[in-house]
Amino acid sequence: MSFRLQPAPPARPNRCQLFGPGSNTKLFAKMAASAADVINLDLEDSVAPSDKDSARANVTAAINTVDWGSKTLSVRINGLDTPYWYRDVVDVLEQAGDRLDQIMIPKVGCAADVYAVDALVTAIERAKGRTKPISFEVIIESAAGIAHVAEIAASSPRMAAMSLGAADFAASMGMQTTGIGGTQENYYMLHGDTRHYSDPWHWAQTAIVAACRTHGVLPVDGPFGDFSDDEGYRAQARRSATLGMVGKWAIHPKQIALANEVFTPSEAAVSEAREILAAMEQAKARGEGATVYKGRLVDIASIKQAEVIVRQSQMISSA
Ligand code: COA
Ligand code: MG
Repeated sequence: MSFRLQPAPPARPNRCQLFGPGSNTKLFAKMAASAADVINLDLEDSVAPSDKDSARANVTAAINTVDWGSKTLSVRINGLDTPYWYRDVVDVLEQAGDRLDQIMIPKVGCAADVYAVDALVTAIERAKGRTKPISFEVIIESAAGIAHVAEIAASSPRMAAMSLGAADFAASMGMQTTGIGGTQENYYMLHGDTRHYSDPWHWAQTAIVAACRTHGVLPVDGPFGDFSDDEGYRAQARRSATLGMVGKWAIHPKQIALANEVFTPSEAAVSEAREILAAMEQAKARGEGATVYKGRLVDIASIKQAEVIVRQSQMISSA
């Protein structure tokens, strides 16, 4: 065990991140009224090149005029390989007020990408006298991004969250699929005549979770494209939650309740976690480090596991 303690990520709910194109102004009030914890106003891939300037203006006006309640409010800027990103940062930060919490940087490939945006954001904050520091969230959605995931997680004190972007990630990796998350038709093990479907996103997710947990960043699962498939979304989200991710994107409002359901620890899970903590308290009183709970071993590590669930539940209910 390292003597360095694992840093805590930001203590705010991030169960669902709802996206909407910056070009679609009629969605903004609906997004604000939704049950999503995080709102991502998009300037990137849901906005056509001809709409980039107007989307920037729409988003800036919406940050200043819409009542976003207690949601975390984020703008997804364009990637550093485009001619748009610097103006996204400059216009939004110069013209939007302090209600903006976060900037999402897509297609991050190395720590220097984050450094570049940090330098620009820092200069604008100083020039404009912005007192609330903007935090960063990034999308890992390229081969370079996943190869450099640990340095990206450590890249800036502004780093708050990191998502897996399944579609761009698949394209960059050369994966033979057009699916955005979820089960992929050709990814299976054969046992006799039976196909056992496996999860092609698993290793990237676990790499993201490990990098995030090392550096105090929230790990988040990205989009699930087929918004007609509730059970597919639930299954993907449950796998992500089991791996340590704290939330998932919604690209359609019907996905919000699904994300909130999966990423809010259930009453049953919380009461079981509390029972484990109580069983360990009793064991401690008897001078024991291990005991039996419902026929299975629980020991001092079980306390930490149970505390993950109890803490997450308390943080969500007190938000
Ligand atoms: N946020 C809030 N409300 C939304 C919404 C969103 N992202 N997407 C749709 N809605 C609203 C619609 O306005 C409609 O409202 P109404 O009942 O008051 O008319 C209702 O939800 C049902 O919408 P529906 O007709 O099923 O969808 P659509 O055809 O209007 O839009 C999409 C479908 C996918 C184009 C749209 O959901 C969308 O733009 N999603 C976000 C895409 C995005 O941001 N991508 C970038 C990240 S990957
Ligand atoms: Mg993308």
